[in-house]
Amino acid sequence: MTRPLSSPDGTPASRLAFGTMQFGGRADAAQSRAMFDACLGAGITHFDTAHVYNDGASETLLGAMAGPHRDRLLIATKAAYSGGGGRDNILGSFEVSRQRLGMDMVDLLYMHRFDAATDLHESMEALADLKQQGRIRYVGVSNFAAWQVVKAVHIAAKFDLAIDIVQPMYNLVKRQVEVEILPMCADQRIACAPYSPLGGGLLTGKYARGKAGRLTEDDRYGRRYGSDWMHDAARGLCDLAAERGEDPATLAVAWAAAHPMGPMPIISARTTEQLAPSLAAMTYKMTPDLYQRLSALSPTPPPATDRSEEQA
Ligand SMILES: NC(=O)c1ccc[n+]([C@@H]2O[C@H](COP(=O)([O-])OP(=O)(O)OC[C@H]3O[C@@H](n4cnc5c(N)ncnc54)[C@H](OP(=O)(O)O)[C@@H]3O)[C@@H](O)[C@H]2O)c1
Repeated sequence: MTRPLSSPDGTPASRLAFGTMQFGGRADAAQSRAMFDACLGAGITHFDTAHVYNDGASETLLGAMAGPHRDRLLIATKAAYSGGGGRDNILGSFEVSRQRLGMDMVDLLYMHRFDAATDLHESMEALADLKQQGRIRYVGVSNFAAWQVVKAVHIAAKFDLAIDIVQPMYNLVKRQVEVEILPMCADQRIACAPYSPLGGGLLTGKYARGKAGRLTEDDRYGRRYGSDWMHDAARGLCDLAAERGEDPATLAVAWAAAHPMGPMPIISARTTEQLAPSLAAMTYKMTPDLYQRLSALSPTPPPATDRSEEQA
């Protein structure tokens, strides 16, 4: 079992989190508000943002919406996507995030990515100071390799600090976390809130129908999900969903949540209409048979290092 995360009033973190990367960007204030309300209505209590999202508009909008519900929510933000993992950057970025969110305390602060150029002792000491001052309750790391997380765990311990949660990419066509991250989380009792459960929209099936979206509008995502086999997997998912009379997005999110380690996928959308099928995964009952059929749509990643032949 991983360490359970909760809101200030003790409410356990919801089965899914909602990511506000679109707030103040592709989702305007009214759409953002409608999605926030839909999430609350569906029982989501865990909301994710970052210092870098839409030049701060994501944190500002989320803070205004979350304020009246503060104690029953778990609010996460991230630092050091740019500027490195040094003390001044982490503390300076967090202070700006805290002010944008309008919160004395932000529940969870992630390092947004690993910074090889900075001694992790410096990053972990800065995070430990924030925790000691009561400015944060949990610490996370995002986009770290498993060895980088374990290195952070050991360095953090020197400052009486724990790594509570990781945030990697995970979906039906991006399964690398199954190899080392998720087993590491189980072993170290670290929670996992993976992002992009729909592969940035690929797994809704809209690209097979010739529609536009993030993958056609953002080169980085177009490249990330550009392989033919990924599009074949998305088509397979849509066929399976059609056979069952279900929405492929619901199945994709429910599949990511169904890993035995118990990850809490971070869903997202730009409108409430888009959000509805992902939100439906909050209550979706995944069967072992369906889980196997969905998993078979894409290659299971091989174990890390070519050690299995030697052990056979
Ligand atoms: N730590 C990190 O480095 C990192 C990186 C990425 C994300 N995140 C976090 O994770 C959250 C979720 O990531 P994500 O946005 O990549 O998740 P995702 O669920 O894989 O993709 C969401 C996108 O898919 C499209 N979509 C969703 N539902 C749809 C529907 N029913 N029909 C058609 N299109 C639909 C929309 O994009 P379009 O309409 O624009 O196509 C939507 O913005 C983010 O908000 C953020 O909080 C973290």
